[in-house]
Amino acid sequence: MTLPDRVKLVEVGPRDGLQNEAAVVPIDIKVALIEKLMAAGLAVIEVGAFVSPKWVPQMADSTEVLRRVVAKQDQWTGAVPPSGFQFPVLVPNERGVRDALSAGAKEVAIFGAVTESFSRKNINCSIDESLQRFEAVAASALAAGCRVRGYLSCVLGCPYEGEVGPEVVARVAERLYRLGCYEISLGDTIGVGTPGKTRALLDAVAAVLPVSALAVHFHDTYGQALANVMVGLERGVATVDASVAGLGGCPYARGASGNLASEDLVYLLDGLGVDSGVDLSMLCEAGQFICDHLGRPPASKAAQALAARSAAAPKSAQKRA
Ligand code: HMG
Ligand code: MG
Repeated sequence: MTLPDRVKLVEVGPRDGLQNEAAVVPIDIKVALIEKLMAAGLAVIEVGAFVSPKWVPQMADSTEVLRRVVAKQDQWTGAVPPSGFQFPVLVPNERGVRDALSAGAKEVAIFGAVTESFSRKNINCSIDESLQRFEAVAASALAAGCRVRGYLSCVLGCPYEGEVGPEVVARVAERLYRLGCYEISLGDTIGVGTPGKTRALLDAVAAVLPVSALAVHFHDTYGQALANVMVGLERGVATVDASVAGLGGCPYARGASGNLASEDLVYLLDGLGVDSGVDLSMLCEAGQFICDHLGRPPASKAAQALAARSAAAPKSAQKRA
């Protein structure tokens, strides 16, 4: 079994992780979380979404968050990842890309779906309409020297339409890629995928797109996310989205639970000897920080186990560590 030597972890906690939280998280807490993630070695952190505040109120402060993070990056005195930091943000339309570019975005993500029902519920248009809209959005971003990532939701099942065929995903993924996306992130929005289905999905998409342009994005509703990641790694996928403390969900996908926890992913990669550039204990600190604010424990099993181990360690060992 050959695995990638290095995996790019796309940390989506500040966006996907928080977008579903009912109580608005203050900007200072969001920025402090992002700083802790940077300190832990995360090079790619999705920091917000330039979407309608009526649709997702939690993301209404994304302009200010991005501005402050871009300023922080300029004064950053900690370690800088070899390829620098990237702070992608979601944009659904031309207004979104315009606002994101003025706030300093160097990477935006357009987000579509492979089922008509989810597309309408999430962005209020059909798949064809969304791709037409994204064509203009991608063109504006690329003309401004901004990279474009593409997301597809419901690739392993839809909360409204049920099963989704891999060939359907491959067709939409190819169309999205042709708009100029450097990467397509395949989203199991409601976390229903299994390793068998993930294998069939990746085989179908890899038949039309280069594997180097694929990322996987699993929600962990049925506890299958890490097993699905293994299938991706075995097929050469070297970019994985995850959310610190396993936060997350989509406001337009009832029953969708949190994302794959970044701590669990890093524990897996460390165990496999695959480099992610992330320091697990500092990542756990970032997770604990946001969970203290939210008033609940991290959903990450690795974070829970490491916290329990450190609480049980004799005081002298804790001091040495
Ligand atoms: P609409 O209602 O059809 O659009 O929504 P509209 O053009 O009629 O605009 C409605 C209002 O929003 C107007 O304000 C606009 O100005 C404003 P009003 O005149 O009523 O005061 N507006 C905006 N405001 C700020 N920024 C903008 C913007 N655009 C319009 N960019 C729209 C269409 C796409 C805007 C809406 O449906 C929307 O914002 N949807 C976003 C939904 C969302 O963010 N979902 C979660 C992210 S996707 C996800 O989580 C899945 C993923 O993680 C992968 C996976 O797991 O599958 C990525
Ligand atoms: Mg998601």
